[in-house]
Amino acid sequence: MNQKATTWRSPSNIALVKYWGKYEPQLPANASLSFTLSNSYTETTLTILEEEADQEFDFEIYLSGQKADDFKPKIEKFLARISAELDFLKGHKFRIDTHNSFPHSSGIASSASGMSALALCLLDLKPGAPAAMSEAFLQEASIWARLGSGSASRSVYPRLGLWGKLESESASSDEYAIPYQGPVHEVFEDYRDTILLVEKGQKAVSSTAGHGLMNGHPFAKNRFAQAHENMDKLKTILASGDLEAFGQLVEHEALTLHAMMMTSQPYFILMKPNTLKIIEEIWAFRKETGKPVHFTLDAGANVHLLYPAAIEQEALEFVKTKVSSYLKKGEYICDQVGNGPVKL
Ligand code: PMV
Repeated sequence: MNQKATTWRSPSNIALVKYWGKYEPQLPANASLSFTLSNSYTETTLTILEEEADQEFDFEIYLSGQKADDFKPKIEKFLARISAELDFLKGHKFRIDTHNSFPHSSGIASSASGMSALALCLLDLKPGAPAAMSEAFLQEASIWARLGSGSASRSVYPRLGLWGKLESESASSDEYAIPYQGPVHEVFEDYRDTILLVEKGQKAVSSTAGHGLMNGHPFAKNRFAQAHENMDKLKTILASGDLEAFGQLVEHEALTLHAMMMTSQPYFILMKPNTLKIIEEIWAFRKETGKPVHFTLDAGANVHLLYPAAIEQEALEFVKTKVSSYLKKGEYICDQVGNGPVKL
């Protein structure tokens, strides 16, 4: 083996049309589209050691320098899923060193950035893999990332990642994400996402469990059909730059995601009282000023405040004066649409 270690930085992403509901092997019930982020990322180094392995996958994982055995089961499951591709790892012990740019347990899903970073490392060390960052390489990395965490499939592309088969996008697939190919208005190229940290720590219900509850959910069929319609609407909006239509669509998607949680069996709520307080503040600010600030949510209590770069100053002033008292330690993360993963 010529190369024994590699390091990749891979970003998180925030879905505009949400993926919620899946079937084996980790295929989505509907197509989804996300902004790739810039400042929220995971950096991972994969090192293949000289020592011989005692079992099929013999590794240690370190998070910010601390041994993190808690992560092992999820990684083992992921490796088992792509085991047929990983013969090059099997004879040796290996080590995974990873850290996130965002605070630990900030409630930001680290699975999209974490699983995509690991998939990129694994593929990069695989003998005979396509050249790093080539189209074929990113497509394969997206398949692997998907098998770690569905939303991770979208993180390997700059700006906008589309995952899931959509009739109107011939290159799209349930197996991997593609870089969004349609026309995109320049306002979205550096769109801002200020992540308002309402809640830190472990989520009460994992996204795996949440996806599972879409099986047999009374509204599932309509929801999946609606998501497909919203994908097509979003494509028109991305081309036109109509920010009002954009905001209406993403807020509706966010609330629908949480409505699915609240109406599953068993039902659950991931929003917190402060999530709703912040949403009310956003709506009041929008009404008063006419500024295009909108929110989206992922599977948690944090609020993603989305707005164009041109109103950054006003939006951040709004966060400081009207929102920060609802945040854990007043914390928020300033992020924006980003350029995708890099090999370090
Ligand atoms: O990738 P998972 O299994 O953690 O699911 C993520 C689901 C949402 O974040 C709620 C939506 C999405 O499309 O990213």
